[in-house]
Order: sequence, then C-alpha cells, then structure tokens
Amino acid sequence: MKYLVTGGAGFIGSNLALEFEKQGHEVTIIDNLLTGNKNNLNGFKGEFKEADVSNNNFKINGRFDAIFHEAAITDPRYPNDKETYNKNVQGFKNMIKLAQKNNAKLIYASTASLYGNGKVPMQEDQKKELLSAYGSSKWDMDNMAEKLFDKMHIVGLRYFNVFGPREKYKGRAASMVYHLGKQMKEGKNPRIFKFGEQKRDHIYVKDAVDATIKALNAKESCIVNVGTGTATTFSELIKVLSEFLGKNLEPEYFDMPYDQKTYQSNTQADTKKAKQFLGFKAKWDLKEGIKDYFNWLNKNGWDNE
Ligand SMILES: NC(=O)c1ccc[n+]([C@@H]2O[C@H](COP(=O)([O-])OP(=O)(O)OC[C@H]3O[C@@H](n4cnc5c(N)ncnc54)[C@H](O)[C@@H]3O)[C@@H](O)[C@H]2O)c1
Repeated sequence: MKYLVTGGAGFIGSNLALEFEKQGHEVTIIDNLLTGNKNNLNGFKGEFKEADVSNNNFKINGRFDAIFHEAAITDPRYPNDKETYNKNVQGFKNMIKLAQKNNAKLIYASTASLYGNGKVPMQEDQKKELLSAYGSSKWDMDNMAEKLFDKMHIVGLRYFNVFGPREKYKGRAASMVYHLGKQMKEGKNPRIFKFGEQKRDHIYVKDAVDATIKALNAKESCIVNVGTGTATTFSELIKVLSEFLGKNLEPEYFDMPYDQKTYQSNTQADTKKAKQFLGFKAKWDLKEGIKDYFNWLNKNGWDNE
C-alpha cells in the first residue's frame, strides 16, 4: 500500500513510518521539522519532503491509499496561540481535501487534552474542557471529522500520554517517563510538582502505533481514545523508574509554575470504544514499556544533540 505520514519526522509519526516500511508498504513523509528531526528517520528508505502541511496552496504529487496525519504544533505551551490553532486546523483541512481527492482513508491525531480536568475515566462523549489553543484546534478537527463520518473513512485518535523511542526532540513536551528517567539516570533527584499526586495514562508508543494501524480497518468512521485505561501518579512512576534504574533518589517537589486551571492534572482513558471500533487493547504495561524504551535509549542515546 502507499501511505502518506505527515509529521513523520516527529515522535509518533517516525515510529509509524518505520513500522509501515518494515511491513513492506511504500511510505512518503511530509514534515516541516518544527519539532521533528531527521535523526528519527535513520534507516527510513521512503521519500521525505520538507514542507508545511498548513500552507494555503499545499500540493503534493502522487497517489495514496491512506493518510496518517500526525503533523501538528504539539507543545500546548507553544508561545503563539493563533499560530497553533490556525496551522493545526488548516493542516487538517488540507489533509481532508487530499484524502477526498485520492479517495484515501484519513487517520488523524486528536488528543486526550480535550478532556481537561473532566471526570475519569475519560469517555469520548463527555463534556470537553479546552485548556489551550492546542486543545481547541484538535476539538475543532474532531467536529469537522464527525461531519464527514458518512462520506469517507475517517478516524480520530485521542492519544493519551505516549512515551517511547524517538520522543527526545520534543524537548519539554516529551513525556514525564523520559524527563524523570533522564534526570534519575544522571543521578539527579527527580523533579515533580508538589506532591507528585498528578496522574497520567502512560501508553507505550508501540501500542499507539498499533492502534493507529488498526484504525485503517475500523468498523466505521469514529473518534476513539488511545490509552491503557490505567492511571499512574508521578510518585508511583518514580518508584517504577527507581526500580528499573537501580537508583534511590528522593523526589524534589516544586510549586506548579502554571495556572492550575490550564494544567491537566489527571488523565485516564475509558478504553471501551477503541476496543469496540478498532479491536485495540494496549499490550504494554508501564514497567514493560519502560524496560523496552530504556534499552533503546541506552543503545541510541538519551540526549537530543
Ligand atoms: N505524544 C503524545 O503523547 C500525544 C498525545 C496526544 C496527541 N498527540 C498528537 O499526536 C501527533 C504526533 O505527536 P508527537 O508526540 O509525535 O509530536 P511531535 O512534535 O514529535 O510530532 C509532530 C510533527 O509534526 C511536524 N509538524 C508540525 N507542524 C507541521 C506542519 N504545519 N507541517 C508539517 N509538519 C509539521 C513536527 O515537525 C513534528 O515532526 C500530534 O498531532 C499530537 O498532537 C500526541
């Protein structure tokens, strides 16, 4: 099959593109290298195009069976809200047009940040709490997608907190698993907000890729959560990391630097819909995912220079 992966030099996109190549598909990547890095694509043999998917006159030659739209301004604290919103939404509109022109399936990345500090476990149809321009852009994308459900195969994936190989170029927006693991590996006390009770549904990138691939054969167009269903506090995460790294480092607590209202303090997916529509269930638990990931970091390097 011929696949287009946008944001393919980024974290999830690069893992997806490399997996597709392994499976023998022909892959084209588009990325403007905002947070992506070509080092994520070591070993990638397909075509790489450096371009911005949100350009008004966006064009790409070639035919695709499916488009995997991972490209977005992904840091919720990116300094320009208008740019975040406009580029994310316009990029998505361009991908809808391209998918319709190609008669291609469109699988795109939404986000769990839409649920804000809403009730857990988070269900797809619960009330949304948009805490950032990033969240608003993804919510508007979901609303656009929903209107197309009966016209094309379109699947939105509300990823929870993904961690794993090739995330380090995201810098501060990389996962807590990466940041805390790196601090502890360097012998530093892990730094967390007071008092470590915030929770995350950490999902390993191999599971996120699996869900994304399963979206191709979704029963019908839909928007689903991609999480494990399990939430872990930062304090518990530090315990798991301590065990794995063989370190005994006390957490260093500090005051939350953000407005409490804009910080999502708890994420946990309700996973029923993903199971029902995609046949997806996460296979990696936190400990096994960390083990696999840190073995990869030990081989490939922890730093992003
Ligand atoms: N990683 C997570 O935990 C998580 C959680 C929820 C949702 N998501 C979504 O999943 C997708 C992938 O995220 P990621 O974690 O791999 O982040 P990432 O920042 O590593 O990847 C995004 C990629 O898109 C590229 N990009 C940004 N704007 C672009 C544009 N206009 N044109 C072309 N390329 C552009 C970046 O350079 C980068 O390579 C994003 O849409 C993100 O919003 C990720």
